[in-house]
Amino acid sequence: MGRSELVVFSLICCLAAASAATLGAVYTEGGFVEGVNKKLNLLGDSVDIFKGIPYAAPPKALEIAERHPGWQGTLKTKQFKKRCLQATITQDDTFGSEDCLYLNIWIPQGRKQVSSNLPVMIWIYGGAFLMGAGQGANFLKNYLYDGEEIATRGNVIVVTFNYRVGPLGFLSTGDSNLPGNFGLWDQHMAIAWVKRNIALFGGDPDNITIFGESAGGASVSLQTLSPHSKGLIKRAISQSGVATSPWVIQKNPLLWAKTVASKVGCPVDDTASMASCLKITDPRALTLAYKLPLGGTEYPVLHYLAFTPVIDGDFIPDDPVNLFANAADIDYIAGTNSMDGHLFATVDMPAIDRSFQKITDKDFYKLVSGLTITKGLPGANATFDFYTQFWSRDASQETMKKTVVDFETDILFLIPTEIALAQHSANAKSGRTYSYLFSHPSRMPIYPSWMGADHADDLQYVFGKPFATPLGYRAQDRTVSKNIIAYWTNFAKTGDPNVGNSEVPTQWDPYTAQNGNYLNITKKLDTSSMKQHLRTNFLRFWTLTYQALPTVTKEDRVPEDDVLVHMAADS
Ligand SMILES: *[C@@H]1O[C@H](CO)[C@@H](O)[C@H](O)[C@H]1NC(C)=O
Ligand SMILES: *[C@@H]1O[C@H](CO)[C@@H](O)[C@H](O)[C@H]1NC(C)=O
Ligand SMILES: *[C@@H]1O[C@H](CO)[C@@H](O)[C@H](O)[C@H]1NC(C)=O
Repeated sequence: MGRSELVVFSLICCLAAASAATLGAVYTEGGFVEGVNKKLNLLGDSVDIFKGIPYAAPPKALEIAERHPGWQGTLKTKQFKKRCLQATITQDDTFGSEDCLYLNIWIPQGRKQVSSNLPVMIWIYGGAFLMGAGQGANFLKNYLYDGEEIATRGNVIVVTFNYRVGPLGFLSTGDSNLPGNFGLWDQHMAIAWVKRNIALFGGDPDNITIFGESAGGASVSLQTLSPHSKGLIKRAISQSGVATSPWVIQKNPLLWAKTVASKVGCPVDDTASMASCLKITDPRALTLAYKLPLGGTEYPVLHYLAFTPVIDGDFIPDDPVNLFANAADIDYIAGTNSMDGHLFATVDMPAIDRSFQKITDKDFYKLVSGLTITKGLPGANATFDFYTQFWSRDASQETMKKTVVDFETDILFLIPTEIALAQHSANAKSGRTYSYLFSHPSRMPIYPSWMGADHADDLQYVFGKPFATPLGYRAQDRTVSKNIIAYWTNFAKTGDPNVGNSEVPTQWDPYTAQNGNYLNITKKLDTSSMKQHLRTNFLRFWTLTYQALPTVTKEDRVPEDDVLVHMAADS
């Protein structure tokens, strides 16, 4: 054979081999679905992609979804479906659809035969239980939560899905008339669909890992704690969000239900008639009846997060901190970003990012008292004193601003994650526990020079963006991405982030409350990256000193009247 014939021959050989290793149409419980097979190289590696498979029937507003009745013929599942109906970023319009309960699957295929028994990773997106979509935002024709890089680099199946958010996902009267948690039930139905069907796609239903970030990380945690998840989930990863975070459980859902009801003209005195009225109200009007105020509020933004999960006596039967026995056999990774609180600190105190603007100790005291309301003045004073203990030595603006960011990082993310880790490991039977801190600094050019990893900075590395869109990234970013994908997918395979399909740069040792182990994830990972007892003095302050102070208000959230006044002023 001549050279060109050889090329032609090998092309034919390999393309033939590649087309052999694809699933084609798959017969699921609902009927046939047909995706696309995307070739990755001339060697015959490819990925089968299914987009928009229904995992439940189109839901009725403010009701738990039901199983999909199925379909005749073959459903073409080649395009992402619309996200669940939600407010646009400007909060003056809506987009998406009520008919939104769909999932997407990526299956890596080798050359000869289709994959089988692969570990499965199911992604739960964040967005404050208010926004988001299974595919994520679209940058340069590349969706943030595209599963291809994780699937092909880690040899795992990746699943992403939509769940309901905002009032349609979480509005609750706090009683059986509107129990709430509709978005959590959606997540549960997606996971249960994967359990029942993923073997048909080459997945191992006994090797399911759920992972998520922010509200998605908290959702991951809640799913592992719910008694309804028994036997469904083998492993879980919570990035920057756990069930014990102070923004997760809405303790006063009726207040917010009434706020929305009065805006759309529904009765507010009786929850039964309120519920029947809300269910027949235009879902767009329901969605727009609530706006998250971003700045200019009396209290920190945390207090205005209205539509979040509730303790419903069913899916979440009790305060999450009491439910960790339900996760005793689940392997768990939880961690935070080094400056997770930055995004929220800048909403509450915009001067943080403005080098020309100074902050004062009065500003910080106001923020502290807004986030320690339940403990009154003694709580605010103790917290303020503890966080400002070094200011007498160094009261530079940089130190003060960093303190504000550390404070919000601690209260919103780090301390709750430490508590979840301690609970998980204390209740574990077969389940393992690992902890990390993601420290690779943010690359936003407008941020201060002292900036660490902001909230959501980890997403691009977990989803392999430095490989998918290499022009926007440096070699060190690809190293960070490669290593995170290796740890995450190894963990999905074996429950140990060090052991699996991919080599890792250094050993990540399990966490216990005694050893306090955590992996400090940076561009250079070596034996010195294994650290112990993250912010242990601050953890002690919050869990001992602060905890011991008497609670002065019953509500975990803000005094109600002020919120209502604010909402009324807004409209
Ligand atoms: C998960 O996958 C791994 C590797 O393929 C396998 O050893 C293990 O038995 C599977 N099942 C469970 C429940 O871990
Ligand atoms: C808290 O601090 C303020 C201002 O320093 C002070 O006036 C007040 O007495 C303190 N309250 C308590 C309960 O410690
Ligand atoms: C994590 O590693 C970075 C880079 O080496 C370092 O600057 C930072 O102090 C470390 N953080 C912790 C909490 O150990």
